[in-house]
Amino acid sequence: MFSCFHHFSFLVFLLFIVLSSDGASSSFSKIGQGYSLVSIEDAPNGGLVGLLQVKKKTNTYGPDIPNLQLFVKHETQDRLRVHITDAEKQRWEIPYDLLPREQPPTLKKSIGKSRKVLYGESEISGNKLIFSYISDPFSFVVKRKSDGQILFNSSSDESDPYSSLVFKDQYIEISTKLPQDASLYGLGENTQSHGIKLQPNDPYTLYTTDVAALNPNVDLYGSQPVYMDLRNVGGEAFVHAVLLLNSNGMDVIYRGNSLTYKIIGGVLDFYFFAGSTPLAVVDQYTQFVGRPAPMPYWAIGFHQCKWGYKNLSVTEAVVDNYKKALIPLDVIWNDDDHMEGNKDFTLDPVNFPRPKMLAFLNKIHSQGMKYIVLTDPGIGVNSSYGVYQRGMENDVFIKLDGEPFLGQVWPGPVYFPDFLNPKTVAWWKDEVARFHELVPVDGLWIDMNEVSNFCSGKCTIPKDRPCPGKFGWICCLDCKNITNTKWDEPPYKINASGKHVPLGFQTIATSAVHYNGVLEYDAHSIYGFSHTIATHKALLAINGKRPFILSRSTFVGSGKYAAHWTGDNKATWDDLRYSISTILNFGIFGMPMVGSDICGFYPTPTEELCNRWIELGAFYPFSRNHANQASPNQELFVWDSVAKSARNALGMRYKILPYLYTLNYEAHTSGAPIARPIFFSFPTFTQSYGLSTQFLLGSSLMVSPVLKQGTSKVKALFPPGTWYSLFDMTQTIISKEGHYLTLDAPLHVINVHVYQNTILPMQQGGLVSKDSRTTPFSLVVTFPAGASEGVAKGNLFLDDDELPEMKLGNGQSTYIEFYATVSDKTVKVWSEVQEGKFATEKGWLIEKVTVLGLDGIGEALAVEVDETPVSDVSNIEMDATEHMFLEKLEGGNYKKS
Ligand code: NOJ
Repeated sequence: MFSCFHHFSFLVFLLFIVLSSDGASSSFSKIGQGYSLVSIEDAPNGGLVGLLQVKKKTNTYGPDIPNLQLFVKHETQDRLRVHITDAEKQRWEIPYDLLPREQPPTLKKSIGKSRKVLYGESEISGNKLIFSYISDPFSFVVKRKSDGQILFNSSSDESDPYSSLVFKDQYIEISTKLPQDASLYGLGENTQSHGIKLQPNDPYTLYTTDVAALNPNVDLYGSQPVYMDLRNVGGEAFVHAVLLLNSNGMDVIYRGNSLTYKIIGGVLDFYFFAGSTPLAVVDQYTQFVGRPAPMPYWAIGFHQCKWGYKNLSVTEAVVDNYKKALIPLDVIWNDDDHMEGNKDFTLDPVNFPRPKMLAFLNKIHSQGMKYIVLTDPGIGVNSSYGVYQRGMENDVFIKLDGEPFLGQVWPGPVYFPDFLNPKTVAWWKDEVARFHELVPVDGLWIDMNEVSNFCSGKCTIPKDRPCPGKFGWICCLDCKNITNTKWDEPPYKINASGKHVPLGFQTIATSAVHYNGVLEYDAHSIYGFSHTIATHKALLAINGKRPFILSRSTFVGSGKYAAHWTGDNKATWDDLRYSISTILNFGIFGMPMVGSDICGFYPTPTEELCNRWIELGAFYPFSRNHANQASPNQELFVWDSVAKSARNALGMRYKILPYLYTLNYEAHTSGAPIARPIFFSFPTFTQSYGLSTQFLLGSSLMVSPVLKQGTSKVKALFPPGTWYSLFDMTQTIISKEGHYLTLDAPLHVINVHVYQNTILPMQQGGLVSKDSRTTPFSLVVTFPAGASEGVAKGNLFLDDDELPEMKLGNGQSTYIEFYATVSDKTVKVWSEVQEGKFATEKGWLIEKVTVLGLDGIGEALAVEVDETPVSDVSNIEMDATEHMFLEKLEGGNYKKS
């Protein structure tokens, strides 16, 4: 977070974090008197559309909207939509072109002339979900058919005379009851200091804000109004999710047995996803909001960045030092240092001269490495700056009082492009293309897009003093809070920045206007989302290659276009720990390519912390070391001990890149998160429900990092089954009922375990993913220890990672499913290959198979690989740990190695 206020006083700022409390004990509002459903009829394209009329007008937070339209539709067999809006006037909704979905029908004409009038209760049944309602006062219930569980219940208690639905122009409220033992996840972006599981009475405020991630429990960069609800009923686990598609600021009050939304605008557009497994939920969710973006292969390699690589030589030296220290590195980044005067899409001619830059890029590109730079949305107001000139000519900026809204960011005075305007999208595309001509970057980092403004309110360039001033451009403009509109000062104040600051605090004034008269008040939290989509279009248009974008601000659906990092964290042990919850949440949000600044953004990390952070960060889906300008260098080669941990942990990451890339494919095709909470694979294992110190990569690897200072042990929870150490396969953990175990974790050791019944594809590693990608494959097959029978499975996706699509059927990809069984003292390993030609042509071969967990099968052992008996099988002896290693011979047979 960078702003006039906290730039100089962030310690003070920390002391002032206040938790939200609305003071109410009831789940139901005392603000409105509710609605009655007076008519309901079939909607033209399926579903039902009804009319709700307010029972008695009230005035708190403004008058009630008298007539509401209800639209209910079972959109798919596992998705139900409930949409409620003003029946007479169009209200703000997320633009239908940004997030494609069905436009609800309009009932306007039929108010009072409906075909059916229903009283009492009724039920509309879909394939998996049931919607039922009570007409007076109106409330609804969503149930899952298979088990009859009530997923959402907006009815108030009989003892509670208050309304379950309040709908005013600037205040909407609805609640649901929840079973006391439901475990809830999601509702971000928020650094949840209490871990991944939502905590009753922790504040969940959604409004995109540039508040540094080091502030736990406040609204951060993204708005993700979706939660996953996990319930264990009689030893069986059931999961569903609820999305409220609304971009206005909101407080979500979770009380343990209820959840209340208090929203300051827009409509109620609920989507219920039936589940009922965690993977089914993310599948259904991303089918609707968009499947996670396919990532180029290099993006899953390691990234190095720092704000303050002040010239090209410094940047080059970082790359060289990585090579010297033999630490893998795929991508080198520049923050805004490469820019001339902090202006987007420029190159500083002195520190980053173009000819040298091109030579540098040629060199690293020839080694398979990539280069990414930062851009900010704020365009410097400077009449000799081409990007600005063309922006003005095309009228692309957000306005206030008919003039472009003046803000203040790194270049000084800036205007903010309005990405809801098609002309802006075309202009941005052109600017990105021009920049790519200047510097052929491999991806773009889009920062500060909440949008961040160092100035709150209306800014003017001072006439009485020079700008830039003492602190450069920071805080140099005159800014005057705007308080004279109902948008800038809404009647209900959300807990913005954890302190109920005005909505325009360090962002665009909420009364500013976007394309087609859309108010910033409504569109604020989709700024980053619209910026991301425009950037995606622009990158795709350049050369048709698979785009890579890293965006700080996110909204529902951002994962379809970009990766995310958790923003400005602190180099502390707490922040190391918090990173896990945020990363796991983003997996649930359909944005699985996510990481945190490894070693912390600021201040200086200790050597020990940096050791532990790279050990954990090597297993983040997106793995990047980044630091603040003011921090000393913290690249992984700076300390010998960190370099050693990095070689170890990243060395392993580079060996499992094929697994990670396949997880990326799974994410793209089914929404499955890359990093997952443990309960994803063990949903009935209740001990794991709040576990935020360990996580799974896919379904088979469990990462148990050290998160505390001064220890060489880690206490890790092992769900039932056999777990094999990934780093030392001779180490086996058999967990009968699931228990905590204290593991050794000396400074250079991170514990990662492979679960039973897995076939893990690996390669031999390397310093750049392009090289590691060409090394021979090996398979690690794990059977449960002590079992005489077992089945293991794995998969592998291979493609040309430059294609924008990540799919089969284009002649440039291969998908392999691996199977292994052990029974009757025989181990069989085989594969089923789809479109194998691509892999064969590339010369990808499996050279080694390691089988773990054969201690249960006794002496005689036969082995078949792809239906061919392994040669000299009679001589196969297992090693002391009952593991078997097979190596491929010329001619295709395997022998014991
Ligand atoms: C804020 C970002 O969060 C940070 O990562 C970046 O270094 C600075 N902006 C400077 O561009």
